[in-house]
Amino acid sequence: MSAATNISLARGAPSLDIIAVEDLKASAQRAFDRDPGGAFSYGTSAGYPRLVAWIAAKQGVEPDQVIATNGSMQADAFLFQQLVGPGDLVVVEAPSYDRTLLALRNLGADILAIPLQEDGIDVGALERALESGARPRLAHIIPSFQNPAGCTLSLDKRRRLLELAAEYDFTIFEDDPYVELRFEGEDQPTMLSLDERGSVVYASSFSKTVCPGIRVGYLVGSKETIGAIRKTATSTYISPSMVAQSIVAEFCESGAIDTSIETVKTALRERRDATARAIDRHLPDATYVTPEGGYFLWVDLPEGTDVAAIETAAAERGVLFVKGTDFLLEGGESSLRIAYSGVIPEQIEEGIARLAEARAEVAGSVVGPRA
Ligand SMILES: Cc1ncc(COP(=O)(O)O)c(C=O)c1O
Repeated sequence: MSAATNISLARGAPSLDIIAVEDLKASAQRAFDRDPGGAFSYGTSAGYPRLVAWIAAKQGVEPDQVIATNGSMQADAFLFQQLVGPGDLVVVEAPSYDRTLLALRNLGADILAIPLQEDGIDVGALERALESGARPRLAHIIPSFQNPAGCTLSLDKRRRLLELAAEYDFTIFEDDPYVELRFEGEDQPTMLSLDERGSVVYASSFSKTVCPGIRVGYLVGSKETIGAIRKTATSTYISPSMVAQSIVAEFCESGAIDTSIETVKTALRERRDATARAIDRHLPDATYVTPEGGYFLWVDLPEGTDVAAIETAAAERGVLFVKGTDFLLEGGESSLRIAYSGVIPEQIEEGIARLAEARAEVAGSVVGPRA
């Protein structure tokens, strides 16, 4: 591979080679042949009816508890608009998805960042904050293969969070776009499926299992919450893209989605392994939690390492990653997120080798790879 090739370890997106292009073409053809009226009209803000029915059946809810949106980012925005106003307290994980932090900040929310552990948010720390008087309106939780940290919330913590939500009367926003992408370990039930009190609003997406360009995601919640969000959606955009959603409906109903998920998981496992090997070889003093699925691996370098400077030096070598500080309100200066989803194993090895060179340059020393 030429040293000039750009390698992005920055974007949480699948590479083109693992997108089911032929199945998407066939799904589009069928969608347009079978239901041109539905695909090419405005539709309603609830989403394309067959897709909404498929999501409802998958999640074990009624169709009027679902809204299918233009990507789950749109679903997140609608929910935040519905539930969060200036000065409202919102719990987030530390670190968390940078776009969520930005959206909450833009709404004027007060953010209570609770540290993330290997098995998910530190519920003990959350409990102590609640006991000390914190009264959140919402807790944003990314339970599966978290973005950016790659870790997964344990079953005990899922149950405890539901108890705390009931006791202190806050909504859990379960933001779960990576749930289908487990390539080892045991599946965990969603908090949505464990919830008996209507404390959970659940979001997921087809971006990570089909392709992000299709821009289809969804929200599941109580009829009241979803009904109110559907009204907001109508006044925002009349309806989401029926063309995109009718294609996804065909893709799901035909079973192409299962094949696609298998393809993506197989590639992700190889890419995760290549990432771990390259880190062990080129950044031997780094620590990380090995993700059991999903797109991301979070790397902690020894305290005092200047990751912002390494980012600049790596970019000069054509390697991009996201620095830890982007995912935190404070701290993270010696951490970074590697997205291994969009690159083949050889590029990962090369990318992390160059990242290590950048680090050595910043540290003013040249460190060779471990044999
Ligand atoms: C935790 C989380 N939520 C939401 C999204 C947005 O996904 P979508 O493409 O469905 O808008 C992402 C994308 O990276 C994500 O990581």
